[in-house]
Amino acid sequence: MASELPSLRFAIIGCGGIIAPTHIRALQQILNAQIAAMCDINPDTGAPRAAEVAESTQPGCPFFTDHRELLAKIKPDVVSVCTPHPFHAPIAVDGFAAGAHVLTEKPMSIEVAEADRMIAAADAAGKILAVNFQQRFRPLIERAKALVDNGEIGSLVRVLVVEPWLRTFAYYKLSTWRGTWAGEGSAVLLNQSPHTLDLLCHLAGEPKKVWGHLPGHVRVSQWRAGLHHLQHRRGRRSGAHPDCGRPWRYRTGG
Ligand SMILES: NC(=O)c1ccc[n+]([C@@H]2O[C@H](COP(=O)([O-])OP(=O)(O)OC[C@H]3O[C@@H](n4cnc5c(N)ncnc54)[C@H](O)[C@@H]3O)[C@@H](O)[C@H]2O)c1
Repeated sequence: MASELPSLRFAIIGCGGIIAPTHIRALQQILNAQIAAMCDINPDTGAPRAAEVAESTQPGCPFFTDHRELLAKIKPDVVSVCTPHPFHAPIAVDGFAAGAHVLTEKPMSIEVAEADRMIAAADAAGKILAVNFQQRFRPLIERAKALVDNGEIGSLVRVLVVEPWLRTFAYYKLSTWRGTWAGEGSAVLLNQSPHTLDLLCHLAGEPKKVWGHLPGHVRVSQWRAGLHHLQHRRGRRSGAHPDCGRPWRYRTGG
């Protein structure tokens, strides 16, 4: 029962952006969760969000422009990291150092070494590190997972995932980091693909080997489509082709 669970005080970092309201709405529906503080480097978008939360569910919810100051003053139980990807690792590591559990938005980080640093920091602090792969909880996916796990559809021989999520230029214009090396260290491979690849591994199992093919289409500064191949245990193979653009609008690159 919810009332028997410990009450958890959350801090939302990157609260002024697009994904943060989803975290806010979810936390507002959990009886034992409180939004203890919010932070964004941009007070123009972040402060009004904190004010809305303070008015609706969390009177006095303070707003910060520096997550380190928030961590030192508020000492939250859990930090939700809703910033662009390059800040996931440093903010998560700071969160663990401050004694919090961390829920970071996907992708976990933009470099494997940073992901390893996050895991090491979580282990050292004895705290939980979670990455937000909410697609796993869609009823359709839960049903598919049950069908695979209970053997109802027999052994998987080959799995193909095609994820044609459309992202128009309006999306890429929403924030300057989108689709740039400097801003996100890639594009579709780090932004949309993680959901697809996570579901693939969730349903088909962890891969033993991964390789990929990147077409030379360049529209924004980085790839918007990719083809990934995974080899799983017992020789099972799978492929994923996430493509977030409209091919006829691509400019062919090298
Ligand atoms: N799980 C999902 O389905 C899903 C959906 C959308 C976005 N995301 C992920 O969420 C993250 C944010 O995406 P978005 O679309 O909300 O981006 P956004 O640009 O709309 O918002 C990011 C916010 O973070 C703030 N910010 C940047 N650096 C900061 C820092 N160092 N400290 C505090 N605040 C900082 C920005 O000012 C901005 O308000 C991305 O990593 C993205 O991949 C996940």
